[in-house]
Amino acid sequence: MTDSLDRFHEQWRTSIDDRDRFWLEQSKRIDWSRAPRTAIEDAGDSWSWFPDGELNLSYNTLDRHIEAGRGDAAAVIFDSAMTSESRTYTYHQLRDETAIFAGVLREQGVRRGERVIIYMPMIPEAVVAMLACARIGAVHSVVFGGFAANELATRIVDAGARILVMASGGLEPGKVVDYVPLVREALRLSDGAIDTVILKERDGFPTSIEDVPAGAGATWLDWSELAESANPAVPVPIAANDPLYLLYTSGTTGNPKGIVRDSGGYAVALDWSMRNIYGAGPGDVFWTASDVGWVVGHSYIVYAPLLIGATTVLYEGKPVGTPDAGAFWRVVEQHRVNVMFTAPTAIRAIHRIDPDLEQLARYDRSSLRALFLAGERLDPETYQWITAGLGVPVIDHWWQTETGWAISANPVGFGALPLKAGSSTVPMAGYDVAIVNSKGREVETGREGNIAIRLPLPPGTLTGVWGGPHRLRDSYLNVFPGYYATGDSGYFDNDGYLFVMGRTDDVINVAGHRLSTGALEEVIALHHDVAECAVVGVRDALKGQRAMGFVSLKSGRSVDESELRAQLVDLVRTRIGPVAAFRDVMFVDRLPKTRSGKILRKTLRQIIDGEPYRVPATIEDTSVLDPILAAAEAARAPII
Ligand code: COA
Ligand code: AMP
Repeated sequence: MTDSLDRFHEQWRTSIDDRDRFWLEQSKRIDWSRAPRTAIEDAGDSWSWFPDGELNLSYNTLDRHIEAGRGDAAAVIFDSAMTSESRTYTYHQLRDETAIFAGVLREQGVRRGERVIIYMPMIPEAVVAMLACARIGAVHSVVFGGFAANELATRIVDAGARILVMASGGLEPGKVVDYVPLVREALRLSDGAIDTVILKERDGFPTSIEDVPAGAGATWLDWSELAESANPAVPVPIAANDPLYLLYTSGTTGNPKGIVRDSGGYAVALDWSMRNIYGAGPGDVFWTASDVGWVVGHSYIVYAPLLIGATTVLYEGKPVGTPDAGAFWRVVEQHRVNVMFTAPTAIRAIHRIDPDLEQLARYDRSSLRALFLAGERLDPETYQWITAGLGVPVIDHWWQTETGWAISANPVGFGALPLKAGSSTVPMAGYDVAIVNSKGREVETGREGNIAIRLPLPPGTLTGVWGGPHRLRDSYLNVFPGYYATGDSGYFDNDGYLFVMGRTDDVINVAGHRLSTGALEEVIALHHDVAECAVVGVRDALKGQRAMGFVSLKSGRSVDESELRAQLVDLVRTRIGPVAAFRDVMFVDRLPKTRSGKILRKTLRQIIDGEPYRVPATIEDTSVLDPILAAAEAARAPII
């Protein structure tokens, strides 16, 4: 198709056919305390990248830049649209704060390999806490601040953590989210698993450490006080495939999976991605408007920009309402952002409020070279709109918590390939992507099927699911033998461009946040009036998808529907979190099922979305669909 596509294809081919040499070559850009001689040890259903290498990611993201004379360069720009505060940390300052907090953790007895839960909003101390864990070989597990106490407790227990690092809370438009009561509840629910809580106090929050009664589930310590007396810790060499972090994500069941990431493969892959996908280098200002609680934040707010010596922007705020739909463009101008990354939903939120991009015209965005989007499918309309308005390449790229970096993208640093609306372009180095049918056989080009990746996966991707090797096999490898099952469906066109169309499982994506409909169903079913429920992800113009619950009541119950709806919404907010944005409940007499008892979730979703649907011949009684059809029809009717 073009020169750049041919040249990239050649590089991609080498990454597959001459895998070991390719990745060993890439690994030379990282500073190792023991350089790897072996690229991969591959046992078929498990593999490990750079098994004989040793390194430290805190050293690679901080100290090495200082040693190279770039200690005074900006490492982090903290910009809070909530408090109008803006603060820059040089590499020197960030290293010193990290070394001190690593000393704090060590003085609390944190050992190598031990898991530390981090429950923090978008403040610099979240980055410090993550890198401090990496410095001493502890394994961090960051839990997103929009998650409820119950979800936090589940992660504490699964990770087997005894230390929790937190801040007073987060700032959301019009409200203060006080973390202290949430954490106290999580401590109660996790039954004494946590023995020490380290609290970073923020001004203006209702609860301070003095308000926490002695013996409230754990010993509560003040971050700032501990930091005053701690000795800085030096980075310790870590085996390349030892875990760097656990990051929990939703699967099909109610229990989130702890994705395990290594250090060596991750560093090599992120470095490759920064140069080739994002076209970014030392000194560039890289801004990922996401959250450190998500994988996008781990990789492209924290590790990757700092690894290459760029400046990362840590933004506490929203795309709209903080204070207006020009918030993103203000940050681009103020900090001279070169490369930006966010979720399509954020762009749709701006579109809704500022369709003519009047706010954009107020700001100088000449520094911006490209906008990258991921987290959910980039719909062609949003793609066209923002491309026309911004005048720089807008790149959709597809990846998952599991992979840690893009599976398919447009390698801008390599020489951007022609863009196609609706496509996340082509597979990246080391990803051998195939489209397979339900039996695991490859389908012909142009046909939609399950997207699978031939094993082994490239460096940087998950090395396991916390809790044992069987979890990786059961969740991802046994589905299509020889492949990793992504859980997404899609197709390749004749130019080798990949189109990712949606999930094949019960995972839904609400405003770029990944949720399990199974987990939502479990929570709704806790209500004593609920007999049965089904949750499906229906189309949403702003958030991509939203969760909709179909609920049947226990026989003989007569309830006030609006009151019950409010109770169910509240239940989801307190058990899962406000971020689930659960609001839609439809009460039905019975759920549509096949004779074998399978709920017709797909049919429900198709009816609500107004798509053609097929009623399986095995359905028990088609009349149960009538009220759902009528309600969907009424919802679509124009309001006169
Ligand atoms: N801590 C606590 N609560 C949080 C939170 C956090 N970090 N993030 C969101 N919430 C809460 C919100 O306050 C809101 O609560 P409410 O129901 O009481 O109002 C709820 O969770 C839903 O929030 P949100 O998803 O932000 O929806 P919204 O309707 O308020 O805003 C967008 C819509 C599009 C502006 C917003 O979803 C957004 O900025 N999305 C970007 C997504 C993103 O970065 N995804 C990361 C993947 S790359
Ligand atoms: P998460 O693990 O939270 O990052 O969510 C990963 C899931 O989000 C993927 O499996 C996809 O279903 C979806 N996703 C992420 N990026 C894209 C994209 N660019 N196009 C389509 N779907 C995407």
